[in-house]
Amino acid sequence: MAGRGRALLRWAAISVAIPVGLAGVAAAAVYAIGEMRLDKRFEAVPVTPLRVSKGNAQEGARLVRVLGCAGCHGTSLAGEDFYGTAAPNLTRMARSYDRDHFARLLRTGVRADGTSVVWAMPSDFFAKLADDQIAHIYAYLRSIPQAKDAVGPRRFGLAERFAFLTGSLFLSAEVSRPEQPAAIAPKASESGFGAYFTSVACAECHGFDLAGGDGTPPLALAIQAYTPETFAAFLKTGKTAGGMDNLMMSGVARGRLSVLTNGEVSALYTYLSGLPVE
Ligand code: HEC
Ligand code: HEC
Repeated sequence: MAGRGRALLRWAAISVAIPVGLAGVAAAAVYAIGEMRLDKRFEAVPVTPLRVSKGNAQEGARLVRVLGCAGCHGTSLAGEDFYGTAAPNLTRMARSYDRDHFARLLRTGVRADGTSVVWAMPSDFFAKLADDQIAHIYAYLRSIPQAKDAVGPRRFGLAERFAFLTGSLFLSAEVSRPEQPAAIAPKASESGFGAYFTSVACAECHGFDLAGGDGTPPLALAIQAYTPETFAAFLKTGKTAGGMDNLMMSGVARGRLSVLTNGEVSALYTYLSGLPVE
């Protein structure tokens, strides 16, 4: 009897140990696959020299707001946790990049060492950024005093690595869009302004075709509720045509779009109200 009890106990112990052992092997495999992905090199993505001279730091400060860098990298740009991924300290990062590699990173997600950032850094929306605007941003980031890191180094746990397998986490370099960016961004007075500006400043949430989705309205339709005056007031204060605050857009307006010039706001209005309504 005693012998049989021991045998049963032994089987029980083994039957627990097998799944625990298998789970360990699976976890190690997920970890290793994640490591391979994070280490994947994209050196073939070209580093194209910017076709402009030194940027203007003041204009860079404005673009950093318009493009929402501070929304993820922290208001002082010293870094912030962005849904579990460390958006690093830009005052330090900009000093560790030369300007042309910085441009490649912004537009394609490929770091100086050839690895890629993960999707959370929206480089596919910056693929079209013109050379001069990148030069302004770079000049600004290097002009402000280097701050202490407000987040630790990036670390990917088992859950994030598992997300690589399911496809919900991916590398920015794998979704980067082939674009031929302009040397100089169109001015508000030029015909290309609306298409360019919306592609870098609105598409991130309203979609590349500005047709909306994921809780955002199609812009061709949304603009119908606005006159040039109420639209200008909306971008400055966040108050919609209906006089209310929106859940997200009012913050985007106040935090990012309130720094647009009057000329930019009216050119944007003209462009949006000229879009065909489906
Ligand atoms: C939606 C959030 C978001 C926005 C907007 C954003 N970033 Fe990031 N950025 C991140 C995250 C998250 C990381 C870290 C990704 C990683 O480590 O894989 C990152 C990484 C970076 C890096 C570090 C690259 C490296 O070598 O590790 C730089 C530089 C950078 N971003 C610059 C910018 C600039 C400049 C802007 C604005 C033009 C910007 N980011 C806008 C989220 C964002
Ligand atoms: C970070 C995401 C984000 C960005 C960037 C963004 N929007 Fe929005 N926008 C939203 C969301 C979400 C809504 C829906 C209302 C809400 O939930 O806040 C919205 C709603 C709107 C509306 C309708 C407001 C109303 O009357 O209710 C307009 C107009 C608009 N956006 C214009 C723009 C323009 C123009 C740009 C670019 C210059 C832009 N948005 C960039 C997220 C964004």
